[in-house]
Amino acid sequence: MKLTQAQLDQFDREGYLFFPAHFSAPEVKVLVDEVPALYAQRRPENVREKTGDVVRTNFAAHLYSAPFARLARHPRMVEPVRQLFGEPVYMHQFKINGKQAFDGDLWQWHQDYGTWRNDDHMPEARAMNVAIFLDEVNEFNGPLMFIPGSHKLGVLEAEHDTATTSYPLWTINNDTIRKLVERGGIVAPKGPAGSMILFHGCLVHASTSNLSPWNRVSVYLSLCAVSNHIRRFKRPGYIAHRDFTPLECLPDDCLLKDYEVPLPWKDGTPAEELKGALKAA
Ligand code: SIN
Ligand code: MN
Repeated sequence: MKLTQAQLDQFDREGYLFFPAHFSAPEVKVLVDEVPALYAQRRPENVREKTGDVVRTNFAAHLYSAPFARLARHPRMVEPVRQLFGEPVYMHQFKINGKQAFDGDLWQWHQDYGTWRNDDHMPEARAMNVAIFLDEVNEFNGPLMFIPGSHKLGVLEAEHDTATTSYPLWTINNDTIRKLVERGGIVAPKGPAGSMILFHGCLVHASTSNLSPWNRVSVYLSLCAVSNHIRRFKRPGYIAHRDFTPLECLPDDCLLKDYEVPLPWKDGTPAEELKGALKAA
């Protein structure tokens, strides 16, 4: 899959691209069917909401779940990112955010690259965020919100919020958000399950809590240009990966056929990947 010049220009201007229904319903079903068993596991990769046992985010499923290992190598996801960076990419972070009906808590306004730079010593903002909807995203179930064009401002000042949700995050203060929104407004791409968003590591984003009766499960992948790999291993390896092997794509039908994939963490997380503090984005 190749991005057109118009899409490249749009990405440069706005900091994101939206691909409605990029994956088909049967492809999404393979992934959706796997999520309850992943969320039921008692392993450090499952971070729960502050109100109880509901999973807020699950890390690194591509290392212990075959369908997600195939998604991590999907050409419809990897190729446009490789094209944008002009070089091979590796998986920096992989998460499945629950945003469950009634319980799914908010994500404060933030940029991801600030954390990648400060904590992981990633040299440049040459890592791409990819969101893939496993449920329909509508105006009620906490859609991801962007401030278009905010990626052009580089890394903004942020404070470490350890109180608002169960997951610590480097967040941007309200005054800055007010100014950014005056310039760029707010957009919230909505669409059916299977839709995909690519968004820049410096694009300011957030989402509200989910008061609706509909889950909003989405996969968030961060693909980093290999030459831009992280230099510091401060956070646990299951949050900021330390394996910089380039992603090799599987065929386009890989979600519907049983292509073989490595599952190195199937029997548990290696001890050395657990060391480090749980921190932000
Ligand atoms: C969201 O799930 O709405 C946002 C998650 C993130 O920014 O990582
Ligand atoms: Mn984020």
